[in-house]
Amino acid sequence: MTRESSRSALLGKINDRSATIGVVGLGYVGLPLAMEFAKAGFNVIGYDVSERVVDLLMRGESHIQDVPSSELSETVRAGTFVATTMETRLSECDAISIAVPTPLSKTRDPDMSYVLSAADAIARQAHPGMCVVLESTTYPGTTRELLQPRLEAQGLVVGSDIFVAFSPERVDPGNPVYHTKNTPKVVGGITPACVEVASALYASCIDTVVPVSSPEAAELVKLLENTFRAVNIGLVNEIAIMCDKLGVDAWEVIDAAATKPFGFMKFTPGPGIGGHCIPLDPHYLAWKMRTLNYKTRFIDLASEINSHMPEWVVQKVASALNDARKPLRGSRVLVLGVAYKRDIDDVRESPALDVIRLLEDRGAHVEFHDPFVAEFKEDGQTRKGVELSEQMLSWADVVVIVTDHKNVDYQRVVDHAILVVDTRNVTAKLTQSKARVLGLAATPRGRSERRVTPAVGTH
Ligand SMILES: NC(=O)c1ccc[n+]([C@@H]2O[C@H](COP(=O)([O-])OP(=O)(O)OC[C@H]3O[C@@H](n4cnc5c(N)ncnc54)[C@H](O)[C@@H]3O)[C@@H](O)[C@H]2O)c1
Repeated sequence: MTRESSRSALLGKINDRSATIGVVGLGYVGLPLAMEFAKAGFNVIGYDVSERVVDLLMRGESHIQDVPSSELSETVRAGTFVATTMETRLSECDAISIAVPTPLSKTRDPDMSYVLSAADAIARQAHPGMCVVLESTTYPGTTRELLQPRLEAQGLVVGSDIFVAFSPERVDPGNPVYHTKNTPKVVGGITPACVEVASALYASCIDTVVPVSSPEAAELVKLLENTFRAVNIGLVNEIAIMCDKLGVDAWEVIDAAATKPFGFMKFTPGPGIGGHCIPLDPHYLAWKMRTLNYKTRFIDLASEINSHMPEWVVQKVASALNDARKPLRGSRVLVLGVAYKRDIDDVRESPALDVIRLLEDRGAHVEFHDPFVAEFKEDGQTRKGVELSEQMLSWADVVVIVTDHKNVDYQRVVDHAILVVDTRNVTAKLTQSKARVLGLAATPRGRSERRVTPAVGTH
């Protein structure tokens, strides 16, 4: 096959859906993507190193909330999706998307071990006429510096034998409106032929494809998006702290500012940031910039403020208990919601885990309830949740609302609890109740008896 025909043959196979698509890493990102390719009419091979995940998927059981088991089992039964731990099956693929984890190390440096091992596996199985796209969030330069050389070491020429690109995943787990198919997909290829092939691949199953001029631009798009969120959440968290000190209702200020029809975007304060993206991704950029001797001041400051929020919540809890003449040590605390955000079951990097740890460090007895998370593992230990019964609500000296899941009856919570610290303002519109309710920042509802207006002019 000539080099030009590699490209046109692959485009033809994508076009008539005879291409076999590989997805490496079948988690929150990879499984929904694999399903989209299968729905678009391709045969899909999902490769994952976890036997547990592969066995589960081959039984038609989805471990990802956004992928219903019924949809998965239909593709398994029809043979359009197969999950495997056999690396050699990657050689059957015409195009491969990589969606493996990109965590941070303990020192907050990028941990590229998963990407490297996936790239090595693909390189061992690579052949002319293949397209390889990295989707894992990473620092600018990864696709060109880590993926491309591994494929070239097999004697393949990028841009003519093999097509290499970066396309950031933007999935927002639990989002009822935007999912893999209707979220525009940015694609940056090493060469123009790479972006052409990778764009055709994604256009087969995603409504809008946005080509950019290089993998570095595509890598940076994702980091800009999540840094934008981290910085704005940091800003609004600091506004909440300032409002608390000023005795002003932070949510009232934010809601009123959000009535401006232009030039303002609403972000809300909370107990901190969680998940696999917002707390981690900006550090990929910060790390890369450190190698260029540049300090990323916005990222560093937002990270400092956001990571302080669990401590701020615990101070609120301690002060609320203090007002009720109770020390935190020995108090019974019910944490409501441990997922890192509303209506999902993911506890990775969840600020709730920090809140629980900080409360326990200070001697509190903590239980949790989460309608989406029956139990979770931390430091090798499994913690089981409790039922949200009226007994449990009145057992607690304080109920701390950390995650604002929609399917919790908050009226029942404030009707039966004694004291509530609401970090999400989810009780704002409820009718008055038995519980004393405090917000994360000062609110007329939440201002404690102890609070006084700022001591202007007294010193
Ligand atoms: N979860 C999100 O909301 C989200 C959103 C956008 C981007 N991302 C990014 O997408 C990437 C994947 O994240 P995720 O949340 O899907 O992770 P995940 O942990 O849910 O899934 C990753 C899967 O990859 C598998 N895996 C690990 N190493 C492998 C290897 N060498 N070969 C094959 N499989 C391997 C794991 O067993 C796991 O099943 C990350 O870079 C993340 O930052 C995640």
